[in-house]
Amino acid sequence: MYPFANVNFLAKNPPLCIEGGDGVYVVDRQGKRYLDGQAGLWNVNVGHGRPEIKRAIVEQLDRLSFYSLFGNTTNSPSVALAAELCRLTEQEGMRRAFFSSGGSEAMEAAFKLAKQYWRLADEPARTKIISLRRAYHGVTLGALSAGGMTVYREQFEPLLPGFFQVESPHVYRNPFTSDPIELGRLCAELLEREILHQGAGSVAAFVAEPVQGAGGVVVPPSNFWPLVRQVCDRHNVLLISDEVVTGFGRIGNMFGCRAWGVKPDLMVFAKGINSGYVPLGATLINARVEKAFLSDDKAQFTARAFMHGNTYSGHPLACAAALANLRVVEEEDLPSNAAKVGQYFLDRLKDIQTRHRNIGDVRGKGLMLAVELVADRKTKKPFDLSEDFGARIWERCVEKGVLIRNLADTFIISPPLTFTKEHVDIVVDAFDEAIGEVE
Ligand SMILES: Cc1ncc(COP(=O)(O)O)c(C=O)c1O
Repeated sequence: MYPFANVNFLAKNPPLCIEGGDGVYVVDRQGKRYLDGQAGLWNVNVGHGRPEIKRAIVEQLDRLSFYSLFGNTTNSPSVALAAELCRLTEQEGMRRAFFSSGGSEAMEAAFKLAKQYWRLADEPARTKIISLRRAYHGVTLGALSAGGMTVYREQFEPLLPGFFQVESPHVYRNPFTSDPIELGRLCAELLEREILHQGAGSVAAFVAEPVQGAGGVVVPPSNFWPLVRQVCDRHNVLLISDEVVTGFGRIGNMFGCRAWGVKPDLMVFAKGINSGYVPLGATLINARVEKAFLSDDKAQFTARAFMHGNTYSGHPLACAAALANLRVVEEEDLPSNAAKVGQYFLDRLKDIQTRHRNIGDVRGKGLMLAVELVADRKTKKPFDLSEDFGARIWERCVEKGVLIRNLADTFIISPPLTFTKEHVDIVVDAFDEAIGEVE
């Protein structure tokens, strides 16, 4: 069983088996080389086969492969990484890091921390989580309950109670307005209306991705996140930034929320934290949340303990890989490269849009980009999925040695942050040709 896959389809269309990787390239079992326009799964941000990360993992392996963070023990790489994450997020005011094994688990920790925060803050009725439609926060039941994509939810309903979604500020597809600023204002207002509808005293947190990823790379209007922070503040609601994709440079800033100048209360990381060399997730909390957990009172010992953890919380190999990875991100200033090369990418994709009647929309920020294909550009009518329009383009891109992701006729492009303009040209030229051939 493969993730998000139909076994019957895969029996007829065997998956491409990737055997090797070097920088921005990967190689399949037959030795064919591909430019990795998706950075694995928007996570291999520093590229494949980095010697400094391999060295850090091997050196750690020589010292210690595993020791637990449970039961009053710890290990050095996890301690060092927590400090490093708090240094990097100083501007956002993060104070502590809790480790897990990936993005979904890091989201679960965020929800539990938020809920427990309110118990400790003497408002135990604040248990509800509000999120956005089109959101993707992972697949565990809590993360999925916060998710806003029907296709991932429908087979598993009913999901957890107490999760609610409001409209996402999607400029290309919304029933309200084509004016981005008006849309940003309206969607923040819809969030506020939902908080009031639920009863502000029952809402623990609002969670969102700074740029929605799997939902189709939805870049919110510039006023949306600042207005969201104001709405949360007005009603005392915690703000959780799901930085699993946007963290560590992808959209051209070190963190997604920083692009909008917003300080969340919790930040959730995975993927780019160590470029996928070893699975890792992290949930960070600011001083407001931390304060609730701080008390010497013996009577409150259990109430203030965070009764949650995974065997692999703070896995030494994952944390050692993260420390080496974050050094590369900073030393090579990959967020700036993502901003510069991402703008060039966006411009080139907008340029080919003029030549293809089936490109409905081109959008993105930094090296997080999407091209949405439609049957009719005027009405934005999507293709009937049975036409396999995007799938056929994807096959041709693969033939041309370029890997980009096709999610229901929206191509998601998210290469390593080390991409150059020359790499962009290779991807865009192949994609341009592939679309032309299928059109
Ligand atoms: C924004 C976001 N949050 C959470 C997750 C879940 O992460 P994982 O797949 O590591 O569980 C993802 C995965 O793509 C994601 O894109």
